[in-house]
Amino acid sequence: MDDSQRMWEDRYASGEDSPDGTRPHPEVAALLERTAGEHAGRTPAALDLGAGTGRHTLSLALAGYDPTAVDFSPSAARVLADALAERGLPGRALVADLRTWSPEQEQLSGPDVVPRQFDLVLAVYFQHDLSLLRRATEWLAPGGRLLWITHAPGSVEGPPPTVPRPDLEETVAVLEGKGLDLLRAEQVRTTPTALDVVVEGVRPR
Ligand SMILES: C[S@@+](CC[C@H](N)C(=O)[O-])C[C@H]1O[C@@H](n2cnc3c(N)ncnc32)[C@H](O)[C@@H]1O
Repeated sequence: MDDSQRMWEDRYASGEDSPDGTRPHPEVAALLERTAGEHAGRTPAALDLGAGTGRHTLSLALAGYDPTAVDFSPSAARVLADALAERGLPGRALVADLRTWSPEQEQLSGPDVVPRQFDLVLAVYFQHDLSLLRRATEWLAPGGRLLWITHAPGSVEGPPPTVPRPDLEETVAVLEGKGLDLLRAEQVRTTPTALDVVVEGVRPR
């Protein structure tokens, strides 16, 4: 385990929740409300990247998705798997390092197959360079949406200065040439102290 994985694992192993609470980010709640009913007649697949203890994974499951959560903290994944099981909700919590993970690494058969493509890919406050964003665009099914939210450089809330905070321009630049329709790209003040980069795109059918 490197320092960053150890830091997160220690946090979750001590019983703490994800740093931003248990209620979904307002942008995620709004997207789920806005797109409710879009997938009538089938169970859409969702991917929650850097899921923590799964405030969004649980919202996705409650909204009718089959969610796959990925986080490199085994304790966070355990908390989330228990929460899904206790509520009888679908979904899985995978332990993996997202700097290198891809859905192709997961099992191809068995009772709990991880999809290769997703109707919704979500990442909230995954503060790294943008290599995951670049790869995540490839995991969208036709018609699939991507919602990418990070702490903006000027935000009072967020990680310490040593942690990357890509700005809106850099984030949008990664999506150029990826074949997505960009639906939103803006800085949003979600609380008086939180300024977020919010980017939403869709893969054309
Ligand atoms: C700020 S928390 C956000 C959690 C969740 N998305 C939310 O909004 O509540 C960042 C999460 O990313 C996870 N994480 C950070 N780097 C990671 C990596 N390289 N691979 C997998 N997970 C990582 C951490 O364990 C932590 O749970």
